[in-house]
Amino acid sequence: MKNILVVFGTRPEAIKMAPLVKVLLKTPEFKTKICVTAQHREMLDQVLDFFCIKPDYDLNLMKPNQTLNQLSSRILTEIDEVLKDFKPELVLVHGDTTTSSMVALASFHRGIKIGHIEAGLRTNNLYAPYPEEFNRQVTSKVTSWHFAPTTVSRDNLLTERVSPDSISVTGNTVIDALLESANRVANLDNEESSKLKEIVDFNKRILLVTGHRRENHGQGFINICAALKEIAVHNPNIEIVYPVHLNPNVLNPVKALLGNVSNIHLVKPLSYPSFVWLMNQSYLIITDSGGIQEEAPSLGKPVLVMRDTTERPEAVEAGTVILVGTDKSEIVNEANNLLTDIKKYESMSALHNPYGDGTACKRIVKFIKSL
Ligand code: UD1
Ligand code: UDP
Repeated sequence: MKNILVVFGTRPEAIKMAPLVKVLLKTPEFKTKICVTAQHREMLDQVLDFFCIKPDYDLNLMKPNQTLNQLSSRILTEIDEVLKDFKPELVLVHGDTTTSSMVALASFHRGIKIGHIEAGLRTNNLYAPYPEEFNRQVTSKVTSWHFAPTTVSRDNLLTERVSPDSISVTGNTVIDALLESANRVANLDNEESSKLKEIVDFNKRILLVTGHRRENHGQGFINICAALKEIAVHNPNIEIVYPVHLNPNVLNPVKALLGNVSNIHLVKPLSYPSFVWLMNQSYLIITDSGGIQEEAPSLGKPVLVMRDTTERPEAVEAGTVILVGTDKSEIVNEANNLLTDIKKYESMSALHNPYGDGTACKRIVKFIKSL
């Protein structure tokens, strides 16, 4: 039996690893254990609850506003104990967070093979997204098996002279999570959705906003808030709903700058089903998130991405996503455009599935079985 350790720490990693954990736990050839670094706490726990995942190890590492160096060093030290205890033959990490890169490094130091889920995404700009582009490149360097979501990401790895035999194109597990949750989300009626129905007029068009990127902290968020305020004031017939990330570098300026605009509703981070439900109710999504860029095409929701570059060109090519950066007038103009130009809006909201068909986890497990 192969000992497999699955490690993740943030909300998006948990969402994208959850369906894989489910398949791995049902595979008798593997002894699978789950470790969470808890780089995120509340936002991670929301996902663990929804997918009924009980970690075998919880490193409980989140501290308010800790620096990347503090977080990195604590992950390296704490995961080492888990590796020593469980002695995995394979460690699975996801994507581009500090958890992914530090767990990959710790596993490499112990001579343990690494499988990288969502491998090969690249902007080739170490500062955008920051520090994620570094995290994913460094993880690739020590990875034995690369699970690339698309042929674009496979080609990025081939360009870096990664051996083709070590790459498997699987689709993105985010679609597995989305499809698996669809039934539970369709007629959602929970505390969060009831509260939203009380405060938001769902007869109006909804603009859904999220944002958290480190490179947008400071002036970027000031511009984003100024743009949202202008959109809200000039379009009193719309409602803006913004579940605000708990990072104080986001939460504080957003609350201060947008706290008293009548048609902007700042709410706490939503549980995954409530957020998917809200995406479905929305007319337009404005975000700097990676995962939302992948989910939106499957839901037929146009997205304005508040970044200068993206490692997810598939959705841009499919026409669902427009990059607007953090320039105030760019965000305002594109949003107003999509609120008034219905033809343009409709062409952007055609359904696409560039990120997979919901079978990524099965493909990943099949590949691991074949090793
Ligand atoms: C992290 C990841 C980023 C990912 C994002 C998803 C890194 C460097 N960053 O960014 O790649 O896109 O998560 O959301 O790996 N906090 C809470 N409660 C929570 C979560 C966060 O209070 O449940 C606050 C804490 O003060 C914490 C801070 O947010 O110290 C920053 O969290 P951190 O994980 O370091 O960075 P994110 O900006 O969340
Ligand atoms: N999400 C959520 N609740 C929210 C906002 C987002 O469950 O209030 C989900 C969303 O559906 C997506 C993921 O969180 O799957 C994206 O996380 P985030 O934007 O924090 O990180 P990124 O994808 O940019 O790394």
